Amino acid sequence: MKRLELTPRLRQLADWVPDGAAFADIGTDHALLPVWLVLNRRLRGCIASDLRPEPLRRARATAKLWDVSGIRFRLCDGLSGIRPEEADTVAIAGLGGENIAAILRKAPWTRDGAHTLLLQPMTRAETLRGFLSENGYAIRREALVRERGILYPVMDVTGGEMRLTPGQCYGGAALSRDALGDRYLIEKILRLQNALAGLNRGRASDNAARADELRDILTELYSMREVWRHANSPGN
Ligand SMILES: C[S@@+](CC[C@H](N)C(=O)[O-])C[C@H]1O[C@@H](n2cnc3c(N)ncnc32)[C@H](O)[C@@H]1O
Repeated sequence: MKRLELTPRLRQLADWVPDGAAFADIGTDHALLPVWLVLNRRLRGCIASDLRPEPLRRARATAKLWDVSGIRFRLCDGLSGIRPEEADTVAIAGLGGENIAAILRKAPWTRDGAHTLLLQPMTRAETLRGFLSENGYAIRREALVRERGILYPVMDVTGGEMRLTPGQCYGGAALSRDALGDRYLIEKILRLQNALAGLNRGRASDNAARADELRDILTELYSMREVWRHANSPGN
């Protein structure tokens, strides 16, 4: 039978799952990540959950296709159907940053320091990093992956102390050595420059405060680019 290959995004997550983990995949959909981890004998326990029945049906179908047993399937919103002692490693991937933050907010046990959280926002990574920074989480490491031409951050998070600046919320907390870090910063800079140009065209009085905020973030992102270039210049 053919080998199951993961896309770069899911492969990065898989690489960071500790060996022998009690693993829960939230918003599992096709369940490719948990099925791959079970096939590769990386887990001692596995839960795959989703909010909706149809994705969970797909998840079961993937497990059947690859002849994998032992995955417990749960239909639930976020972590509402998972008890803290059932998993030491939780992946929440392929959802928007706001949605991931909302899921964590409703499960405060995720910041107890005993759980590894592997988070991969598709959008609004800055909202997620801001939430983590303000709510007792620490990003231990972060990596960028390129999938179908789009850059996605993957984060390894646990409970702890971390204070991110607004620039770090946008540009990443730990990407100064990442090969794709400069490209990521350029994308953020272009997006914020566009947003700023839009605000400058408008007339609303509260635009001025937001425009000042964006300028400050842009200034920080420019210096983060300098730091990246220095860290990645030959000889460093
Ligand atoms: C794009 S898929 C991501 C699948 C897989 N995790 C990945 O990264 O490739 C997003 C899945 O998250 C599920 N989802 C969205 N909000 C959720 C929530 N609050 N709780 C659980 N699952 C959720 C959706 O039903 C959908 O199946």
